[in-house]
Amino acid sequence: MHNAAFAERGLNWRYLAFEVVPEQLREALEGAKAMRFAGLNLTVPHKLLAYKMVDALDESAKFWGAVNTIRFEGRVAGGEWLPLREFDKDSPAEVRSHGFNTDAEGLAISLQQDLGVELAGAKVVLLGAGGAGRTAALKLAESGVAELHLVNRTQNKAEELLSVVKSAFMVKAHQPHVHVSVGYPKSEVDLVLNATSLGLKPEDGSPLDETKFSLKQARAVYDMIYKPAETKLLAAAKAAGCRTAGGLGMLVWQGARAFSIWTGTEMQDVPVAVMRRAAEQSIYAK
Ligand code: ATR
Repeated sequence: MHNAAFAERGLNWRYLAFEVVPEQLREALEGAKAMRFAGLNLTVPHKLLAYKMVDALDESAKFWGAVNTIRFEGRVAGGEWLPLREFDKDSPAEVRSHGFNTDAEGLAISLQQDLGVELAGAKVVLLGAGGAGRTAALKLAESGVAELHLVNRTQNKAEELLSVVKSAFMVKAHQPHVHVSVGYPKSEVDLVLNATSLGLKPEDGSPLDETKFSLKQARAVYDMIYKPAETKLLAAAKAAGCRTAGGLGMLVWQGARAFSIWTGTEMQDVPVAVMRRAAEQSIYAK
C-alpha cells in the first residue's frame, strides 16, 4: 500500500520488508540510520523493543509504550532536527531515530470513517484485554466514550485493564468522563469491538458470548481482524442487522498516518483509497 501511495504522489521512494530477529533489532535500526532511510515500520514483537532503542519518542509512542513507526531525522547547524527528506545532497552528520505510534489513531479513524461511529459519548463493549485490547481501551477512553464494558476470557486481565484505564483517565478532572466496567451490559450499545485474536483461524468460534449479550443490542460491530475479511462475528452481526467493518481499515489508516509522518503529506492529501485498494489486492487476492 505504501508503494502504491508513493507512486500516486510521484515520490521516488520504496517500501521494503525485512525480516529481523529481535536479538538484532538494535543493529538493524542502526543500519537503517546509517543508510539514511527516511523511516520504517515495526511489527510484533519489535514494537515494544524499539520503544527502548529509539533516540527520541513522540507523545503518541510514550502514551502507548510502543513504537510502530520511526522517522529518521538530521540535525541542522542551528541545532534543530528535521526529517531526512528535507536534506538534499548534504547528508547531515548527526542523525537520530524518532519513534511514533500510529496504531491507536488508525483504529479511531477507521471506526469513524469506515463504520460511521461517533466515539464521543458512545457506549462500547470491548472484547479482549491483551495488547490490542489495551490500546483500544485507552484510545476509546481518550476519545471520550461514555461507557466502556470490558470483556475478556481471563477475567482478571479485564480487571487489570479497568485499573489501567481508570488511572489514566479518571484522576484528571479535565478528561472526559468515562464509565468503565467489567462484563457485558444489559442495555443497548453503539459499538462492539473485537480486539481478541479469536477469528483468525477458520476453526475459531465467535469471541462474543451470545448467551450473555445479543447482537440485537448492538448498532455496529468492528473486528480488528482483517483476514478473513468477514469473520464469524461479522457475519453474525450482519445477519442481526448491525453495521459492520473488519480491521483492514485500521491497517490502512495506521499506514496513512505513517505515510504522513515520513513524507510530510497532510492527512487529507494521503491517497488512502489507493492504499486501501493495494492492501485489498495483496491480502485478499487468491
Ligand atoms: P494481541 O496483541 O493480538 O492483543 P494478546 O496480547 O496475546 O494478543 O491477546 C490476545 C487476546 O485474545 C486476549 O484478550 C485473549 O484472552 P485471554 O486474555 O483470556 O488470553 C484473547 N483470546 C485468545 N484466544 C482466545 C480464545 N480461544 N477465546 C477467547 N479469547 C481468546
